[in-house]
Amino acid sequence: MADINFTYLPGDGIGPEVGATAIEVLEAVATKFGHDLNVEEHLVGGAAIDAGLKPLPDDSFESCERTGAILLGAVGGPKWDHLKGEDRPELGSLLPLRKRLNLYANIRPCKPYPALIDRAPLKRERLEGVDFVVMRELTGGIYFGDKGRDGSPGNWGAFDMCRYSESEVRRIAIKAFDLAMGRRKKVTSVDKSNVLETSRLWRETVIDVAKSYPDVELEHLLVDAMTMHMLTRAQDFDVILTENMFGDILTDEASVLCGSMGVIPSASLSDGRMGMFEPIHGSAPDIAGQGKANPLAMILSAAWMLRLSFGLGAEADAIELAVEAALEGAHTTGDLGGGLTTFAVGQWIAHYVRR
Ligand code: IPM
Ligand code: MG
Repeated sequence: MADINFTYLPGDGIGPEVGATAIEVLEAVATKFGHDLNVEEHLVGGAAIDAGLKPLPDDSFESCERTGAILLGAVGGPKWDHLKGEDRPELGSLLPLRKRLNLYANIRPCKPYPALIDRAPLKRERLEGVDFVVMRELTGGIYFGDKGRDGSPGNWGAFDMCRYSESEVRRIAIKAFDLAMGRRKKVTSVDKSNVLETSRLWRETVIDVAKSYPDVELEHLLVDAMTMHMLTRAQDFDVILTENMFGDILTDEASVLCGSMGVIPSASLSDGRMGMFEPIHGSAPDIAGQGKANPLAMILSAAWMLRLSFGLGAEADAIELAVEAALEGAHTTGDLGGGLTTFAVGQWIAHYVRR
């Protein structure tokens, strides 16, 4: 019997709705497998701001640090768009959580479900057999460099500094090669080394790390070319390794191959078992509170948390099987062609897990 003690940050928009279904599914898993579920729920993002707190309140952060396993809904929305800098939900909660918990390795999968292939805009033959993951560096590069304004009235300038150290590149490259060893043994490193100095350091370091993995094939692609290769030969990729901003952009592109953003979980990992798990979709404020939000990505994120933070592989498999069954039987929300509410999808999956 395991103690599944984690921090739950529902956040904003559809976060609380899809989060509630994930908790229900986790309760079903705990009952079925005889585990103790201990959920520490805390405010984050706009929800914390509305409660008169900072976007990342101290007790929320303390809980994350202590449990080392975090399930996050989404943060942000138009309501807080007028705020600047670290008063914003994203810059004041999501980025500091990643940085302060040293969650440097972000993994986002791309493996289209058969039931969803016809929802994707690409031809079926370009999607069948696609199965890759993106390993995105998450705590360095341009998102975390010095930024500011300079110049003078009438001619203001702005700058964002991109910097990478060799050790930052090395540790994420090691994560990518380790992952590839358990998969099809191929790493595609994406950079812009024809222009950027950080990319040249990136490429040199990745080549050096590759020497310790003689069984893994290493390919380099420039990021602009990669956006095309992802649409024309996605089957060729296994682990795509890239820096923070390129990974941000490429993972949105990859989600289109899956037919829906609503079915893609993600893990942000540090060394050891520390991890934050969240759907890759955002807070979708336009549909929040209506019971329309698709909870599958959030439920799958909970499955990843069980597998990666708690080592509960069979439990994670049970959730993933239930999600596949839901997709096959169209027990889904309207965005995927089903007729169920967010809550009803959660109940269906919880029931399937418990059966
Ligand atoms: C993501 C998001 C975030 C990012 C935003 C909300 C700051 O787009 O997780 O991909 O850019 O990293
Ligand atoms: Mg993004």
